[in-house]
Amino acid sequence: MSVLRSRFVQAVVILVGAFLALRFGIRPPAPWSVIQIYMAVVFLAVLIFVSSDTDSWRSFVNPMRAALVDPSQRPVRIVLAVALPILLGYYAYTQAAARPQAPAELRAVHPAPPGSIQFRGKEINIAGVDNPLRKDVATFKRNVAAGGEIYVRSCMFCHGDNLDGHGLFASALNPPPANFEDPGTIAMLQESYLFWRIAKGGPGLPRESTPWNSAMPAWEDRLTEEQIWQVIAYLYDATGQEPRRWETAH
Ligand code: HEC
Repeated sequence: MSVLRSRFVQAVVILVGAFLALRFGIRPPAPWSVIQIYMAVVFLAVLIFVSSDTDSWRSFVNPMRAALVDPSQRPVRIVLAVALPILLGYYAYTQAAARPQAPAELRAVHPAPPGSIQFRGKEINIAGVDNPLRKDVATFKRNVAAGGEIYVRSCMFCHGDNLDGHGLFASALNPPPANFEDPGTIAMLQESYLFWRIAKGGPGLPRESTPWNSAMPAWEDRLTEEQIWQVIAYLYDATGQEPRRWETAH
């Protein structure tokens, strides 16, 4: 087996063997970036191995030299002259070819609310409205308590017993239910914004809130206008957050 004594053949066998072992011998498959690093190390080791002495180096380089200049190797040169550009061209094509990609879409966490909404056939202004229940201080506590009942019945399973978004169903939902304890949610919003979100839910979100599908239900058919204001009052009362106020200029 004099062929196997050629350093060039040995180097090729080691490189191909190492590649096959890395590519197919590892479960689960190693990522390409890792395979590339390992192959670079193997390549360096092979270079050290074949250049360990002059004879070895010559036995490594000679076949390549012969392929380039030896008159008897003309057919090899022709094959290389055709195959190499095709391979390089194919590589460049795979790098440059357009890949299917999800379209980029910006998602607004708190999209702008509509100016007004239709609620059970009645038009309700969203801009500039505060919770009407706050006007009557005497009954406010009772309204908060009623809101608490609504919360336990309708909201708790998603938004959590502690209003922290960790309800029973929360782990199954993406986006997750809002965490009302988080200063980034209701504390940043006007109460009428919440009215819109609770009445119209995920289906009422504008396009800039896609592509995430919100599981927040639309409550307009199940809660009355008063009940929605009650549960809103409860959300702020229970978390100790203050609703954002409309600028006095409104
Ligand atoms: C099926 C689960 C589910 C139920 C039940 C549910 N919600 Fe939600 N809610 C969500 C999810 C998910 C989000 C976050 C996505 C979004 O904003 O639509 C959310 C968001 C909200 C927001 C928006 C907060 C913000 O920062 O933008 C409010 C307000 C809200 N919910 C109130 C309620 C109230 C009040 C109830 C009960 C009447 C309720 N939710 C019941 C799932 C639910």
